[in-house]
Amino acid sequence: VVGVARERTALRRTTLSRPLARALEDGILAKGTSVFDYGCGRGGDVERLDKLGFDVAGYDPNFFPENKREPARVVNLGYVVNVIEDRSERAGVLRSAWELAGEVLVVSARLKGEERRIAASEGHGDGMLTGLMTFQKFFTQTELREWIVQTLKQSAVAAEPGIFYVFRQPGQAESYMLTRMRRSRARLRRSDVVFDNHSELLEDYMAWIEDRGRLPRAGEYDRQVELRDKVGTPRQAFQVIKVLTGEERWDRARVARYEDLLVYLALSRFHRRPRLADLPHELQYDIKDFFGSYKAAIEAADRALFAIGRQGLIAEAIRSAKVGKRMPSALYAHTSAISMLQPCLRVLEGCTRELLGTVADATIVKLDIERPRVTYLEYPTFDTDAHPALRGAYMAALDSLNTDFIDYSKRDNPPILHRKERFVAEDYEHRKKFERLTKKEERLGLFGSPERIGTAAGWAQVLRECGVEIRGHQLRRRNGR
Ligand SMILES: C[S@@+](CC[C@H](N)C(=O)[O-])C[C@H]1O[C@@H](n2cnc3c(N)ncnc32)[C@H](O)[C@@H]1O
Repeated sequence: VVGVARERTALRRTTLSRPLARALEDGILAKGTSVFDYGCGRGGDVERLDKLGFDVAGYDPNFFPENKREPARVVNLGYVVNVIEDRSERAGVLRSAWELAGEVLVVSARLKGEERRIAASEGHGDGMLTGLMTFQKFFTQTELREWIVQTLKQSAVAAEPGIFYVFRQPGQAESYMLTRMRRSRARLRRSDVVFDNHSELLEDYMAWIEDRGRLPRAGEYDRQVELRDKVGTPRQAFQVIKVLTGEERWDRARVARYEDLLVYLALSRFHRRPRLADLPHELQYDIKDFFGSYKAAIEAADRALFAIGRQGLIAEAIRSAKVGKRMPSALYAHTSAISMLQPCLRVLEGCTRELLGTVADATIVKLDIERPRVTYLEYPTFDTDAHPALRGAYMAALDSLNTDFIDYSKRDNPPILHRKERFVAEDYEHRKKFERLTKKEERLGLFGSPERIGTAAGWAQVLRECGVEIRGHQLRRRNGR
């Protein structure tokens, strides 16, 4: 136990807290960003950010009461509001943190569901007293968002369950939402490109076009001058490329980007849709090229958004999905495959993210056929464990706006996965390995009793009875025989 405790403390010392790690991953914290950690506790995050080269300071009434409260581009209010018992003080702290934030305020709080992880507690005010007699308020995701919106009169963007961003400029929120929506596309392989001269430049240009599904406007592509000197105008260079690659890849890129935009615009309704002029230039060009006008774009987006209210359409899209595992009542797909689903399913999933934010360790998303409900399932060892165990599930019902979290991490006999290849897309890195194992398991008849294999203990027993064991993704006779 001591060993584990020590390891945890060490971990705490070397990794950023969840909200800051998320902000780093989301590009909210970029090189040179100034950061202020409001309610920094013992200052662990301040130290770590300092080591990472950020211009960072912090304040905490208990640990660093002398420090000044200073403005910064990014202000972090990390798990502070949930420890403040007095409601007006709680709101006051949120407001003063917002006043200091030049670009973004990152607000996080403990969520309902997490209290099950904390020792027995009793009700107190609008929260509870923990075993250590400290106050904790557990929010629901919706409650936290509404409290932030009401208190600051600003919209809040869910970054992750329990973590919200509040942006100073509307345009910043838009750029952020768009990046989040952009599907990660497989890059072109070097071997695909057969240019003798300028291959590096042309590949770079191809990647630009493939990412956006359109040609650059003047000044948009940063190597445009070089391109013009060596190959020609953006259009001429694209003609050269198409001779070698054919048209299809570019049609696909165009459709993909069109769908990205459609999903993004549909979801932008949640943040009071911005005016065209407030959008980043890149996005304005996208809209002109793909839809002709902002008005036409918004009409198309609204149609996509309202389609998710028609469960029949959703059910149809689920039934015809080309990725994921289809069960009678739901579709289960790996999160990396979401962008390959039809736009209405992506909008449905996107609406859930509006409610919950990104569930950091979500591996599988489940879309129900009968009702508008989305569940994120966490299998942290999905890639490495042949039959990973379920750690937690975040659910959101889009009709009632109810959200819930079920913690499986403490269960002795958690549900596990089989046939992992069914959840992922064709080009998923480990798909072949998953498939090979499944074939062997089928040959040995290990899936013969479906009612036993769904949980860790039942599966272990089936393996024992059959005299086999699984190491990594290798199946072998017990005792290495
Ligand atoms: C759970 S800790 C979080 C510390 C750190 N931000 C983190 O994420 O690890 C809550 C912190 O809020 C601080 N705090 C309590 N009341 C506060 C207030 N009115 N203003 C600023 N910080 C406060 C406490 O001193 C404590 O260090």
